[in-house]
Amino acid sequence: MNKLKESRLALDDWLKKARRATSKNNPKAPEIIASKILRMSPTQIATRSDQIILTKKEQRKLDNLLGKLLTGRPLPAVIHHTQFHNLSLKVNNRVLTPRAETEELIEYAIKNIPKKSKVLDIGTGTGAIGIGLAKARPDLRITLTDIDYKTLNLAKINARRNKITAVKYIKSNLIKKIDQRDLEDSYFLANLPYVNPNWKNIKHKNLKYEPRSALFASDNGLKIIKNLLEQISNKKLLNKNNWALLEHDPKQFDDLQIFCKDLGLKVTKVTNFVSKVEVY
Ligand SMILES: C[S@@+](CC[C@H](N)C(=O)[O-])C[C@H]1O[C@@H](n2cnc3c(N)ncnc32)[C@H](O)[C@@H]1O
Repeated sequence: MNKLKESRLALDDWLKKARRATSKNNPKAPEIIASKILRMSPTQIATRSDQIILTKKEQRKLDNLLGKLLTGRPLPAVIHHTQFHNLSLKVNNRVLTPRAETEELIEYAIKNIPKKSKVLDIGTGTGAIGIGLAKARPDLRITLTDIDYKTLNLAKINARRNKITAVKYIKSNLIKKIDQRDLEDSYFLANLPYVNPNWKNIKHKNLKYEPRSALFASDNGLKIIKNLLEQISNKKLLNKNNWALLEHDPKQFDDLQIFCKDLGLKVTKVTNFVSKVEVY
């Protein structure tokens, strides 16, 4: 029995080993992994790590996740969880881990959408935009949509995790399945796939472990965004009161501007990665 105990590692020793192995960019990763596997709070990890002797099974699980991190997988993809805009979000291999650029879109929406408006989060993924907005602005009537049913289920789980119940969910290819009543006078928020697979610098952007369906689009990355704008324009859904907010790459702005002009729509920059589309 004693022999068995001797061969087992204390959590403290595992953390020391893990800290030596992980990069300086990820100093908290070992504690976060341990917190997930051992179901302990960060405070418990910090105060009790020298008293905890790991079982072989726990050690195997910890080493497995550490191994994934060391092969270059981002931490959210290792632990299937991320913190984003005060939200606790589950992530999986079907969805994009929300990015900092998207916070800018949420911030603008929080500050500028008038009280009690209808809002559509098109291509919701984890639910980051719609849930973030619902948390900050409970007065809004928010609908989360995605083309992928399983992704929409994940958004539901994330809404519950963040105690958001008063949102609607619709599985739809862009706005095709959304009722006219829900579309009229709505504000449209969309972070749809916008990466051109031929861009040279994308290998460095930590996208290797993200699903292709959440990232790439043809037509210089603008195909899906342009489809959405066309659908919005065909149904005459923008008027003097509402607008659409789109995330896209800064180098797509000129192309987007020409496209919108042809549709009779005006596009302006909100931030580098976010543009606002409205009627003239
Ligand atoms: C870049 S991810 C963004 C996820 C989330 N909005 C965010 O900001 O983190 C794009 C999402 O759009 C969804 N999507 C792709 N094409 C779509 C379409 N035609 N209609 C609706 N959703 C679509 C994907 O399933 C994916 O969840």
